[in-house]
Amino acid sequence: MTQLPDWVPPHIDMTVPSIARMYDYMLGGGHNFAADRDVVKRGELVEPGLRRIARLNRSFLRRAVLFMVDQGIRQFLDIGSGVPTVGQVHEIAQKAVPECRVLYVDRDAIAVAHSELILAGTDHVGVLHADMRNPEAILDSDEARRLLDFDEPIGLLFLLMLHWVPDEDDPHRLLATYRDALVSGSHLAITHATDDRQPQMMDGMVDTMHRTRSPDQARPRSYDEVHAMFGDFELVEPGLVGCGTWRPGGPGDIAEDAKYNEFVYAGVARKS
Ligand SMILES: C[S@@+](CC[C@H](N)C(=O)[O-])C[C@H]1O[C@@H](n2cnc3c(N)ncnc32)[C@H](O)[C@@H]1O
Repeated sequence: MTQLPDWVPPHIDMTVPSIARMYDYMLGGGHNFAADRDVVKRGELVEPGLRRIARLNRSFLRRAVLFMVDQGIRQFLDIGSGVPTVGQVHEIAQKAVPECRVLYVDRDAIAVAHSELILAGTDHVGVLHADMRNPEAILDSDEARRLLDFDEPIGLLFLLMLHWVPDEDDPHRLLATYRDALVSGSHLAITHATDDRQPQMMDGMVDTMHRTRSPDQARPRSYDEVHAMFGDFELVEPGLVGCGTWRPGGPGDIAEDAKYNEFVYAGVARKS
C-alpha cells in the first residue's frame, strides 16, 4: 500500500481535485495531488497566464493587509485562507505590528491541517475548519472569541473565494451577516473572478472545473454583483478595479499585459 504524506488527513479522496490544492500548485507549493495538477494544466490550455493571475492576487493581499494595518486594523478574519504559502496575512501584519491577531478559516481539510501544523506555537494566530456558508459557526466559534474582539474594528478578507459560493447559497445575504457583525472602522477586502472582460476565457475555466468531480465550482460575477457584496461599506480609492490596478506599488503588483489585471476584481471598503 502506498504511504500517504504526513500532511494528508484521513479520508481524503486524492482523485477529487480541490481549489485549495490547485491554488497551492499554481503558487509553487507542494501540498497538492496529481488530480489537482491535472486540472491546472488543463486550465492553462485555456489561459496560460493562470499562475500570473494567482500571484497578482497574492500581491493584492499584501497591499490590502498593509493598507488596513495603516488604518489602525489590528485583527483579521481571513475566510477561504487556503493552503499556507509565503506571505500569509499574519506574517505581513505582524511584521508591521507584532500584536496583530489573525483567524484563518477554510473548509478544505488539507488547508486547515497544514495551517495547524505551521501555526503551532505562533502567537495571536488561529485556524478554524469551517464553511463560510455557516457564518454563525465562524463568528460564534471559540477560536473567534479567543482571537477577535468584535467591539474593535476587524479586517475581513474574502480573497479569491466568493466565486466558489453559488447563487443558490445567496452570497449577498451571507456577506450581510458578516458585515453586520463588525463595528465602525472595520474593513472588508474582496477579490472575485469576473467574466466582464474576458468572457470566453472565463467560460473555459468554468467548464474545465465542471468536467471534474470537484465540489469547487466557479461562478464568476459582474462588476455590479461584486460591488453589491460590499453593501453600505464605502470603497476606498481607487474603488472596485482590476486586481493589478489596486494601488500597485511595484512591478510584481501589476501585469504589463493589461488583460491579466482584469480577470479578478479587487476592492477594499470601510464601515462608517
Ligand atoms: C483560491 S483559494 C484562495 C486562498 C487565499 N484567500 C488567497 O487569496 O490567496 C480559495 C480558498 O477558498 C476556500 N473555500 C472555497 N469555498 C469555501 C467555503 N464555502 N467556505 C470556506 N472556504 C472555502 C477553498 O478551500 C480555498 O482554500
